[in-house]
Amino acid sequence: MKKLAIFASGNGSNAQQIIAYLESHPTLRIGLVVSNKENAGVLEKAEKLGIPTRVLPKPDWVNESIVLDLLKSFEIEGIVLAGFLLKIPAFLVQAFPGRILNIHPALLPKFGGKGMYGMHVHEAVKNSGDRITGITIHEVNEVYDQGKIVFQASCEVLETDTAEAIAGKVQQLEHLHFPGVVASYFAEDKA
Ligand code: GRF
Repeated sequence: MKKLAIFASGNGSNAQQIIAYLESHPTLRIGLVVSNKENAGVLEKAEKLGIPTRVLPKPDWVNESIVLDLLKSFEIEGIVLAGFLLKIPAFLVQAFPGRILNIHPALLPKFGGKGMYGMHVHEAVKNSGDRITGITIHEVNEVYDQGKIVFQASCEVLETDTAEAIAGKVQQLEHLHFPGVVASYFAEDKA
């Protein structure tokens, strides 16, 4: 059984979907959920589903031994970022080459980069007048939102859509696609 960790800072609706989806997978499981926020909704959701959780405060995330020892103790072989708001340190990218996935709530390379998270993204899409948005699932490297794109799905943006309405359409795409993309990406044996 290959165990994956989810890193999340917020509500955890994507994490919840992924955990449930992998419960019936033949070779993959979520073995750990880690947050940088002790009050993150994702922690309660994971605990209710019987998944071990840990909280690492921001300073710990730059400490290579704390992070890598934690992941090693849970035999983690891959990482899924599901609304994780800290930059992934280089040592983690190097320790998990081609084995860290992130989801971004827009069609990268548009509306990506530092500061582009959560409602900021949907407000930017709204203000741009674009008639399309969507999700991007990509590998994580040392540069924000610039790893190899693994999957994209799009949805229409109506002139009358508020940023909240856009967020709702995008989140539906996330919940529809992210679990399956995670499963197919990590189920392959990466040499
Ligand atoms: C999602 O919109 C995702 O695209 C972004 O953070 C949000 C996480 O939402 N990276 P949730 O915590 O999974 O509900």
